[in-house]
Amino acid sequence: MSDRKPTTFPVLLNNDVCSLIQAADDVFQIRFKNRAANAYVVRGASRTIMIDVGLSSNYPQLLQCLHQLDCPPDRIDMVVLSHEHLDHIGATHHFSGRTLIAAHRLAANKIMLRDDFSTLRKMFNEPNEPIHVDLWLEEGNLIDLGNFRLDVMYTPGHTSACISLFDHDKGLLFAADTLMPGGVMGGVFGSGCISDYIQSLERLKGLNSKILLSGHGRLSDAPQEDVRIALQRSHGLLSDTGHLFDALDARANFEPIMQSVRDLNKLDDG
Ligand SMILES: [Fe+2]
Repeated sequence: MSDRKPTTFPVLLNNDVCSLIQAADDVFQIRFKNRAANAYVVRGASRTIMIDVGLSSNYPQLLQCLHQLDCPPDRIDMVVLSHEHLDHIGATHHFSGRTLIAAHRLAANKIMLRDDFSTLRKMFNEPNEPIHVDLWLEEGNLIDLGNFRLDVMYTPGHTSACISLFDHDKGLLFAADTLMPGGVMGGVFGSGCISDYIQSLERLKGLNSKILLSGHGRLSDAPQEDVRIALQRSHGLLSDTGHLFDALDARANFEPIMQSVRDLNKLDDG
């Protein structure tokens, strides 16, 4: 048993829909009590950003939290979207003024094409509002807020388009749905891949992270333990998937897919 005392994170506001929790100096988590993902505010010396914004329907409560921090939407310089799922990005259209919107280029593409299958529109029953992504991010970009320097890490697996942000000096890891407290996995969705997921977790394991600020659930002060459990689970999922494919008649399942491709090309031929 570890004798390490768990960190207590101060709660600054609490209502029916969300809580506003201080994760570190000038770093805040807006933790929703419904299906919306967590949103984060990082109040830098030169720029203030948000990382994810939750569902559109929660915007009034999000606004209340932003006012509590004296960071109304017109003071948010940039919203960084961790990936394309609407529980993370639904409220983005409310930030359409001077705020820049950024996402990994693969997420940006899906969002701009309004790819409802990829963004899980039906699942979250969100309004079909266009979201314009101004900055298309890549692995290796750096977001410099003055006193925070966030490395953009490309961490695919949950989907093809997931990023994590990491501040080396402060040990802050914003890992969205790639890594959650207690090693809870975000699952593998449409464009995702369990092998990519494992590689992404291996990269996160190598970081000297101190606080995990994830897409769902509480803040964690034990990211190394979280990633160790997530890796175990993801290897389990990989082996389950192998057994599943063995159990299926792969050739019988492959044929309808090939037939649909042939039919599609027939249509294209006119
Ligand atoms: Fe997600």
